Amino acid sequence: MDVIVAGDRAGLLKAKRTLGIGAASGEGTLALVPTMGALHKGHRSLMRLARERADHVAVSIFVNPLQFGPNEDFSRYPRTFDVDLEACADEGVSIVFAPSAEDMYAQDRQVSVSAGKMGTVVEGAFRPGHFDGVLTVVLKLFNLVQPDVAVFGRKDAQQLAMIRRMVTDLNLPISIVGAPTAREADGLALSSRNRYLSPHERHTALALSRALFAGAERRAPKEILGAARAVLEGESGISLDYLVLVDPATFTEAGEDYEGEAILAVAARVGSTRLIDNVTISL
Ligand code: PAF
Repeated sequence: MDVIVAGDRAGLLKAKRTLGIGAASGEGTLALVPTMGALHKGHRSLMRLARERADHVAVSIFVNPLQFGPNEDFSRYPRTFDVDLEACADEGVSIVFAPSAEDMYAQDRQVSVSAGKMGTVVEGAFRPGHFDGVLTVVLKLFNLVQPDVAVFGRKDAQQLAMIRRMVTDLNLPISIVGAPTAREADGLALSSRNRYLSPHERHTALALSRALFAGAERRAPKEILGAARAVLEGESGISLDYLVLVDPATFTEAGEDYEGEAILAVAARVGSTRLIDNVTISL
């Protein structure tokens, strides 16, 4: 069956009725993969995971202005709708929800989601307001699409943690699934922003995953951070925003006595492109 493209709530309702998706018993379940488009192999792996979790998959494609700061790449963010639609069709997606900014945000809107203190640390410290914008659009997408399950990549680890927090704190009836980070064969984490990199910058950017893998070979926080930092310091052309070892649920520092899974996360600029990546390490 062809992908049904919906632009607003009415279109979504019609698509869901056509496909027999709904809350009534015997009706099909729906998994949502929220995206900003410019879909790559990483997004495709999210769609595949979504297909395992529900009868139908919806992909939303919306470049959310609310989550970009004034000096960030909102206007140059890649928009590749036709190619994205083909990728969704290839992956057996049933619905693509592609609203306009006007449909998503009324001129006189007043109410939005606050990401709280957790939204101001690590990534949030470098991108003020970013997680408020992410949570606001994700809550709106949840309300519009009303999925049973939503799938997010673990590459955006703090985003995933914040969404889990929102689901808990606001009692949202949705299961959140975190999908493993997809990487190129040489280790580079897949990202829509990789297409900004020149061949030389792409080579430089490999230091990020190399640093994380070097850290993941150690078991004590100081050593983990030291090994990762040494790789980054040995590479010119990288401007580091942060390298941290944190608790995956709270994004607070995993100190020397920390036990359990921790996230080693990095954010850096390579040329004018800002990249993030992380790995999970058992301590
Ligand atoms: O991860 C993304 O692509 C975006 O932050 C999301 C979750 C689609 C919200 O705009």
